[in-house]
Amino acid sequence: MADLKDGKTTGHQWDEEEGFPLQEYNNPLPRWWLYTFYATIIWAVVYWVLYPAWPLADGFTKGVWDWSMYKELKQDLDEVAAKQKPFNDRLEKLSLKEIAGDNALLQYSVSGGKALFGDYCAPCHGAGGVGVKAGGFPTLADDDWLFGGDLATIQETISKGRSGMMPAQLKGAGGAFADNQVEDLTQYVLSLSGKSKDAAAIARGDKLFHGEAACNSCHGDKGDGSLKGTMAGGPLPPVGAPNLTDAIWLYGGDAQTVRESIGKGRTGHMPAWGEENSARKLSPLQIKQLTLYVHSLGGGK
Ligand code: HEC
Ligand code: HEC
Repeated sequence: MADLKDGKTTGHQWDEEEGFPLQEYNNPLPRWWLYTFYATIIWAVVYWVLYPAWPLADGFTKGVWDWSMYKELKQDLDEVAAKQKPFNDRLEKLSLKEIAGDNALLQYSVSGGKALFGDYCAPCHGAGGVGVKAGGFPTLADDDWLFGGDLATIQETISKGRSGMMPAQLKGAGGAFADNQVEDLTQYVLSLSGKSKDAAAIARGDKLFHGEAACNSCHGDKGDGSLKGTMAGGPLPPVGAPNLTDAIWLYGGDAQTVRESIGKGRTGHMPAWGEENSARKLSPLQIKQLTLYVHSLGGGK
C-alpha cells in the first residue's frame, strides 16, 4: 500500500484503521477522453458560428448559414402547396358534379375533406360522421337526411348552417297539452316505428298529431319528415323535422326520450361555415372538399 502514497494519490484517504485504506488517485485523464472533450468544444464553437445559438437583447445570433427550423418547415409546406396547386386550381373552377365525375379529383377532395372533417366537424358529428345522439348531432353516414343529401344541399347546409326547432308541447314548458296528451302523442310516435301496441292511446295521439297539435305541418301526414313528407298532398317547409317512421333517431327512440322530445321540445343548431366575418370561416374550396367528403360517407344522393 505504501507505494501508492507517493505522488500518485491526492492524499485523501479513508478507513485507515481497517488496514485497507480507500485512496483517491491523481492519474492523468485517458487521451481518447481528452481529445473527445476538445473536439466537443471545437464543435460547439463551429455550431455557434453556423447556426442560431446565443440569445441577444433583441433576438438571437442568426449564424452564418441563416438556417432556422421555421424556414425549413416553410420550405416543406411550400413544396406541398406547389404540388397541391394544380389540383386546387381545378377544384376552384369546377362544379361539384364535375369534380364528382373525375376520379382523381374526387379522391383528392375526399381525403382533404376527411382531414377537415376531423378538425372542424367531428367534435359534434363524431369521427366519420357517425353522429352523437346525446347532443342531437345527426349521423351523416346514413341515408336519413334532415335537409337533404344531394351535393348542392349539403354544400348549402355547410356554408349557411341550419337550425331545427321542435316546439315544446307540455303545458308549463311552453306548450298547450297536458301530461296524458303528451303521453298519447308519445305512443302514437312510437307506433310509427312499430314500438307501441297501446291501441287506445295511439288513436288519441293520432288525432292530436293530425289535428290540434298539428305535428303533421312539420313532420308530414305520415310522420316521415319535412324532407320526404307531405301535408294534404303538398310539400312541407324545409324545417329539418326528422322522419319519425324509420327507427333512426336524432335524440333517441325509447319512450322516455321521445316523451322528452315532444314535451320539452328540442333545438339543433348547425353552425355556418361559409359566412364572411364568422369565426368559423372556411374557404369555398374547403367547403367543396367537405361537401364531397360528407357525400361520400355512404348516404349521399
Ligand atoms: C356545434 C356542433 C356542430 C358542428 C361543429 C358541426 N355541425 Fe353539422 N350539424 C349540427 C347539428 C346540431 C345539426 C342538425 C341541425 C338541426 O338539428 O336542424 C347538423 C347538421 C348537419 C348536416 C345536415 C344533415 C342532414 O341530415 O341534412 C350536415 C350535412 C352537417 N351538419 C355537416 C357538417 C360539417 C361538414 C361540419 C364541419 C364543417 C359540421 N357539420 C359541423 C351540429 C354541428
Ligand atoms: C314547427 C315544426 C314542428 C312541429 C309543429 C313539430 N315538430 Fe317535432 N321536430 C321538429 C324539428 C325541426 C325537429 C328536430 C329538432 C332538432 O333539429 O333538434 C323535431 C323533432 C321531433 C322529435 C325527435 C325525433 C328524433 O329523431 O329524436 C320528435 C319525437 C318529434 N319532433 C315529435 C313531434 C310531435 C309529436 C309533434 C306534434 C306535437 C311535433 N313533433 C311537432 C319540427 C316540428
